Amino acid sequence: MTDTLTPVLTANWADDRSWTLPSYAARGGYAALDKALGMAPDEVITAVKDAGLRGRGGAGFPTGMKWSFIPQDNPNPKYLVVNADESEPGTCKDIPLMMASPHTLVEGVIISSYAIRAKVAFIYVRGEVLHVIRRLQAAVAEAYAAGHLGQNIHGSGYDLDLVVHAGAGAYICGEETALLDSLEGRRGQPRLRPPFPAVEGLYASPTVINNAESIASVPSIIANGPGWFAGMGTEKSNGFGIFSLSGHVTRPGQYEAPLGITLRQLLDLAGGVREAPNGQARELKFWTPGGSSTPLFTAEHLDVPLDFESVGAAGSMLGTRALQIFDETVCVVRAVLRWTEFYKHESCGKCTPCREGTWWLVQVLARLEAGQGSAEDLDLLLDQCDNILGRSFCALGDGATSPITSSIKYFRDEYLAHLEQGGCPFDPAKSTLFEEVPA
Ligand SMILES: Cc1cc2nc3c(=O)[nH]c(=O)nc-3n(C[C@H](O)[C@H](O)[C@H](O)COP(=O)(O)O)c2cc1C
Ligand code: SF4
Repeated sequence: MTDTLTPVLTANWADDRSWTLPSYAARGGYAALDKALGMAPDEVITAVKDAGLRGRGGAGFPTGMKWSFIPQDNPNPKYLVVNADESEPGTCKDIPLMMASPHTLVEGVIISSYAIRAKVAFIYVRGEVLHVIRRLQAAVAEAYAAGHLGQNIHGSGYDLDLVVHAGAGAYICGEETALLDSLEGRRGQPRLRPPFPAVEGLYASPTVINNAESIASVPSIIANGPGWFAGMGTEKSNGFGIFSLSGHVTRPGQYEAPLGITLRQLLDLAGGVREAPNGQARELKFWTPGGSSTPLFTAEHLDVPLDFESVGAAGSMLGTRALQIFDETVCVVRAVLRWTEFYKHESCGKCTPCREGTWWLVQVLARLEAGQGSAEDLDLLLDQCDNILGRSFCALGDGATSPITSSIKYFRDEYLAHLEQGGCPFDPAKSTLFEEVPA
């Protein structure tokens, strides 16, 4: 099965001191930058377009097309901003990437900035991950010292400064326009669009915002050619991506594979659903294909190809490929309540449907989980979701409804069981599922 994997971004993670420049250079690091600097900026954009790279931050927007929206006749400076805020529950790919191989991202930043003619770039990192920030700063300092950043890079005449910026730790600051406000020193709240960031982004200047994994994928595309990248994955979802398996899985971690791989294949690679402490087999109950904002899947979706189109057609979203695995011992109502509490806490408060709606969702879910609601509460929840979905100012509100509507679709009986039993049927003290756990 191991030939199912396509280690590219993760290829050097196990190398000795993989995060240092000598280690990265020993594998040919920064050779792609040389190659890119020998191309015209528009040729670099064309290569990324031809590769079919789509944004790895969740929405899957074509990266090369986004770059080509930058109006080059605008006299303002152009900026590249890397979104490394990574705060979605379950999403855990950018942080290990930046820890293990920060130079992959730094090289990607330089090539991408060259393509869009930016002279200043920013990596916006979630503030809580101080270890990542320090590692990135060290890599940037190494890159300056080696002449990969700064003035006249590799003797090409191209200049670039790269700033690593620490956010203060808010999920909403991963939304690209809230991120820009935060980077400008304001409270992070989404901006009204249009104007789009490509036209008026950072400091009202043309700005490209891309996810860290998107930008880190660029050096390999330049080094190996767009055909190499487009040859992997599916017809419309090209290339590879990092799939993050977490939760009730034997070997959780990062599995880099072509888009279109299935959870069944990934679970095979990861040793399957984790067994009980007494060795008893456990069943897959539900999972998220792309983080908590994407509608839940169940065991019936094990063979859905994990590409943008197939996951969408099956009723969810590929999102960030954050595959959170839950076995049959987990109460879906409790899991959904926890996620909803997160959305309520992280709602920035700018718009009423999300600010008020997420608060109400928690109230209704909490009483259902405690077995104190009524069957009508399920319709009430769906009605509340209906008033949030598509009526919120940004996608945080939409995402908050995904776990609720999908869990009611697949597990309505489990909600009702809470009411019938006057509490959680998964209470370890009562359930036979937990027999092996000492009291
Ligand atoms: C609430 C919210 C949080 C988000 N968090 C992130 C994040 O942490 N990282 C990220 O790359 N994109 C995040 N996004 C998506 C970004 O708005 C944007 O689509 C993405 O950075 C674009 O990069 P890409 O085209 O390379 O995927 C978030 C969106 C929303 C609505
Ligand atoms: S949907 Fe939520 S997070 Fe987004 S602007 Fe409205 S209140 Fe803020």
